[in-house]
Amino acid sequence: MDRERLGKHRYFLKTTIREQIDISDNDQNKGIPMPELQKPVKDGQQVFDLVPVKDLEELSTMSLTAAIGERRTRRKFDPDHTMSLDELSYLLWATQGVRKNAGTSVFRTVPSAGNRHAFESYLAVFSVEGLRPGIYRYLPIDHRLVLEREVDDLREKVNTASKGQIFVGGGSVAFIWAAVPYRMEWRYTLAAHKSILLDAGHICQNLYLASEALGYGTCAIGNYSQELADELIDVDGKEEFVVYMAPVGK
Ligand SMILES: Cc1cc2nc3c(=O)[nH]c(=O)nc-3n(C[C@H](O)[C@H](O)[C@H](O)COP(=O)(O)O)c2cc1C
Repeated sequence: MDRERLGKHRYFLKTTIREQIDISDNDQNKGIPMPELQKPVKDGQQVFDLVPVKDLEELSTMSLTAAIGERRTRRKFDPDHTMSLDELSYLLWATQGVRKNAGTSVFRTVPSAGNRHAFESYLAVFSVEGLRPGIYRYLPIDHRLVLEREVDDLREKVNTASKGQIFVGGGSVAFIWAAVPYRMEWRYTLAAHKSILLDAGHICQNLYLASEALGYGTCAIGNYSQELADELIDVDGKEEFVVYMAPVGK
């Protein structure tokens, strides 16, 4: 790759765009209503209660220091292990859970530029207590799960969507984070995209630490097929698309 082309593409990592455009010329200041904070549940979709966070405090006794110190990427998972709903509830809370709901401002366990939180969390559930295998979506504001679709040969489809990285479909569950860019663009216009990716890092790091704390392991996945991953969770690839994945297993 020639260095000039590489250099041009680096603009994306910088904040220079904020000096070149007027971010205040955004949809928020035009009075266009704030985009929804969480995609709604469709009529007829099955919704599942998760375990309240207050009941999960005993789940891990590992110190934060140990979780940080022992964190590493793990790629060998036991496909026969079933994750409990308590454990899944904890991981969802750690990655996108709500810590303070002030109506239009909903604060989570992870930071987000302008508190815009542009992600939807999908799960490929392979083996979780009380849940049929399928694609689910977390509803952070309700701390519930919605079943999006049941998929035949789910493990194989996840492996194919992650370009043959066969451990991705080998755990108990795979997290699949999809960005809804307009949630961030509504305020930050062309500066939104850098922030979306920075936000993704916080989410996945919390998954690493929470997984370690529960005796599980995870692996950040940035190498996946855009088309197949979007197809798997049934999003349009324009207003919503996959940006990051992470399997979790014993
Ligand atoms: C943004 C990002 C994308 C990654 N994508 C992949 C991936 O597609 N496949 C994989 O096996 N590991 C992936 N990894 C894991 C890295 O290979 C791993 O973090 C690195 O080797 C350092 O190891 P450690 O996490 O144990 O410290 C990714 C990590 C990050 C942060």
